[in-house]
Amino acid sequence: MNGPREGTRGSERDRVVLVTGGGGGIGSAVCRRLADHRTTLAVADRDVEAAREVALEVRSAGGRAEPFGCDLSRPDDVEDLLKSVVARFGALHGLCTVAGSIRRGDITELSPGDWRASFEDNLDSVFLACRAAVPHLASAGGGAIVTIASGWGLRAGRRAAAYCAAKAGVVMLTQAMALDHAPAGIRANCVAPGDVRTGMLEREAHQLGRPVAEFYAEAADRPLGRIGEPHEIADAVRFLLGEESSFVTGAVLTVDGGGTV
Ligand SMILES: NC(=O)c1ccc[n+]([C@@H]2O[C@H](COP(=O)([O-])OP(=O)(O)OC[C@H]3O[C@@H](n4cnc5c(N)ncnc54)[C@H](O)[C@@H]3O)[C@@H](O)[C@H]2O)c1
Repeated sequence: MNGPREGTRGSERDRVVLVTGGGGGIGSAVCRRLADHRTTLAVADRDVEAAREVALEVRSAGGRAEPFGCDLSRPDDVEDLLKSVVARFGALHGLCTVAGSIRRGDITELSPGDWRASFEDNLDSVFLACRAAVPHLASAGGGAIVTIASGWGLRAGRRAAAYCAAKAGVVMLTQAMALDHAPAGIRANCVAPGDVRTGMLEREAHQLGRPVAEFYAEAADRPLGRIGEPHEIADAVRFLLGEESSFVTGAVLTVDGGGTV
């Protein structure tokens, strides 16, 4: 994954990548895109049925994938997950942390429980997965981590205070890991999507009591004039996990139709 030399790209097909939140809209697109490149996938999600469906889809298209049920906010679960993945596939070469959730509200609308849950799903999950993965990536001779933050981790949005704060944490955590783990051959990069057509975006409309079509039309108000599709985020992840980005670490790639410009 970190090959500094040209002409080594064929080895990408032998890698094992763990995708957290792999059962969701963006996570499943990441799994599909990586499977195109003959990567073995560990699909982890709290929603084990969704993870199972994604793994089945990858397998029926000729790929290699295994579902894993895991609450990424629980330290013991995450340790067990990493042990199971490495026991099953023998090594780990890449990690993409997609798991996350949103609770819309300003700080007077959010309860301390909403705040805690936002940090658990969006930031603790990244810390715990990366913490458990780094020793395995290092012992494979290096690897790549891609985290999914949000445009709202770079620039605040209204009535999403906990989410913005947690996603800003994801950005900085990623850059801190890029510094700390470069000597072990581990690159860490962040993708910051803008509004993407998934279940999460639809739930936001419901949380704000807005008709979905109207909410989507407003979200399209950005330079490229539309919301994003999950596969467009997956393409950026594939680049940052692969050897084409072997000299890229600590980067934050906005994939948002220009929404943060
Ligand atoms: N959809 C967007 O507009 C958008 C924009 C910017 C960033 N993002 C980020 O992209 C990521 C994926 O979002 P999505 O739109 O695909 O949403 P989604 O709801 O479709 O998928 C999220 C997945 O994460 C899983 N998950 C959440 N918390 C978990 C936990 N603690 N343990 C295990 N699994 C957990 C859910 O079960 C779900 O399958 C999230 O981190 C989100 O914040 C999404």
